[in-house]
Amino acid sequence: MQEQFPSIIQSIMKTSQDMWQKGWAEANGGNISLRLEKEQVPVCSPKSDWIPLGCSLPELSKECFLVTGTGRYLRNIALFPWKNIGIIELDETASGYRILEGFEPTGKPTSELAAHLMTHASIKKAYNNSKRAVIHTHAPSLIALTYALTLDSALLSKLLWQCHVECIVGFPSGIEFIPWMMAGSKDIGEATAMALARRPLAVWQFHGVFGTGRNLDEAFGLIDMAEKAASIFLLAKSTGCIRHAPTVEQLRSIAENFKGVPEESFLNADTTAFFR
Ligand code: 13P
Ligand code: ZN
Repeated sequence: MQEQFPSIIQSIMKTSQDMWQKGWAEANGGNISLRLEKEQVPVCSPKSDWIPLGCSLPELSKECFLVTGTGRYLRNIALFPWKNIGIIELDETASGYRILEGFEPTGKPTSELAAHLMTHASIKKAYNNSKRAVIHTHAPSLIALTYALTLDSALLSKLLWQCHVECIVGFPSGIEFIPWMMAGSKDIGEATAMALARRPLAVWQFHGVFGTGRNLDEAFGLIDMAEKAASIFLLAKSTGCIRHAPTVEQLRSIAENFKGVPEESFLNADTTAFFR
């Protein structure tokens, strides 16, 4: 990793490269944001005027974010970081932002900025300021499930818990299913932010997944775990006969063994039709 860059930039270079290598980030697909600690914000003069956000998020007053640029390819971040990412600062009421660094020469933040910032506002509050990373990506097996199956949050959570038993340890509160809405809209931003206050992952029907964590490794790892479970389901299904799946008792005992408290109502979801 290129040592001339601060560790926070190195972490986004690595995560974006990993996302590309996983096959989650075709063309400009996917975006990343990180809420920065004060000492991670560069001392520099702003590179833009204030730009309205179209909403106000007072929880994020004066916060700064490292964020990927719209239309930029995640696979190019490691090659040309300041062309493909930038740092923005929110104003006092968090109803506008200005660019401090990056998006060279004339770019701007991701078109999913509303979903990212609304999510940061809700997870900052819900997780006592501990969560700072948000990743959106086009993980193919999770997307495929939204085409193949009739889902809600309970069915999707239990299916993934059953298809890879790490999942009930990694995300015992489950994963949220968000029915199709227009990407980039305020509505999908609000639905995603609300979902991610209660669970670390949310799947957008026909589109992709959002994951959160204390850092990029944690957010990436959770998406990777869910995506692997979805792939195992599709692999097992492609054999033409699924004969077994973990029982509720087995899932509950795995969670207990790792001191996790699973969402009880999701354990009761009836996934038997998926395994036929
Ligand atoms: P951006 O290039 O604006 O980040 O959009 C990519 C994407 O995945 C939209 O959902
Ligand atoms: Zn997308």
